[in-house]
Amino acid sequence: WRRLFAGVAAMAMTCSLAGCAAFDSVTGGKRIIRIAHAQSEEHPEHIGMLAFKEIIEERLGDKYEVEIFPNELLGSAQKAIELTQTGAIDFVVAGTANVETFAKSYEIFSMPYLFTSTDAYHEVMNDIDYMQALYNSTDKSGFRVLTWFDAGTRSFYSTKPIRTPDDLKGQKIRVQQSPASVNMVKAFGAAASPMSFGEVYTAIQQGVINGAENNELALTNNKHGEVAKYYSYNQHQMVPDVLIGNTKFLESLSDEEYAVFMEAAQKATEVEMAEWVKAVEKAKQIAKDEQGVEFIEVDIQAFKDKVSDVQKEMLENNPDIVEMYEHIQEVNRKYEEKE
Ligand code: GCU
Repeated sequence: WRRLFAGVAAMAMTCSLAGCAAFDSVTGGKRIIRIAHAQSEEHPEHIGMLAFKEIIEERLGDKYEVEIFPNELLGSAQKAIELTQTGAIDFVVAGTANVETFAKSYEIFSMPYLFTSTDAYHEVMNDIDYMQALYNSTDKSGFRVLTWFDAGTRSFYSTKPIRTPDDLKGQKIRVQQSPASVNMVKAFGAAASPMSFGEVYTAIQQGVINGAENNELALTNNKHGEVAKYYSYNQHQMVPDVLIGNTKFLESLSDEEYAVFMEAAQKATEVEMAEWVKAVEKAKQIAKDEQGVEFIEVDIQAFKDKVSDVQKEMLENNPDIVEMYEHIQEVNRKYEEKE
């Protein structure tokens, strides 16, 4: 039914582009702000975006009304980024892996084992001043990042247990539609099958792929734990999600309004990050107790060794990521020394 609904939503969008009344941007004198994301309504990001909506409507409610479309209702991440880019919608929450095809500097976050601790990851991402240059770099493409959301640590899960890197041989693993992630999974020795998030459940169920890689919430919020029973903690990536806005819309705001949108974005991150910690614990428990998923602790170093050349190759091939890579190494070291 979800596919069907997505189809109907897509039709509604086409209709809106042609000027259909049902999707007009102004109703009752208010400008409707549309936000798309790929997660369920229980997901921390949805809860974060509800906080965003609340602030905008509380402070600018005479002018704006915020509508959130979860569950890929307006299309997969890449489609929704395109809609934001053209201004058909105003905002989208998507993983940086989906932004790579629009802006190569975002490849940095797909680098395996880039951050060596959660503390380093959070410090880099929460440094608003530092992130500004990257966030604004896509203005010429029509969109800009406002803030980030924690999407945890990604690991492999499959219908067949992965205990060592060798177990990945011959497995077909879904990756995000990101060139860097495709390369990474190949370096691990598996076959990479890029597809959108919403297609993964059926692909595993039908045996088109053996597994995927994601944070623990994919097992429960997206029900992948129903069809893939082994989750291995090899922890290859921390890929953030970002809140992306249409540049023209953001630039049309007055300074005061812009400040409210930025404040709402910061609040959304705060709420999301607090929810994230609880959500991961809950997902693990549900996956174990209700779905019968086995969580496997692995020798992470063995997995790191498999992709040790990938970092180097990425730096050689993409000068856009070098400065940020070095910055992240510095922050990494700070927390390694503390240990
Ligand atoms: C996570 C992440 C999403 C991403 C998805 C995926 O859920 O939060 O932004 O799109 O993984 O693997 O596609």
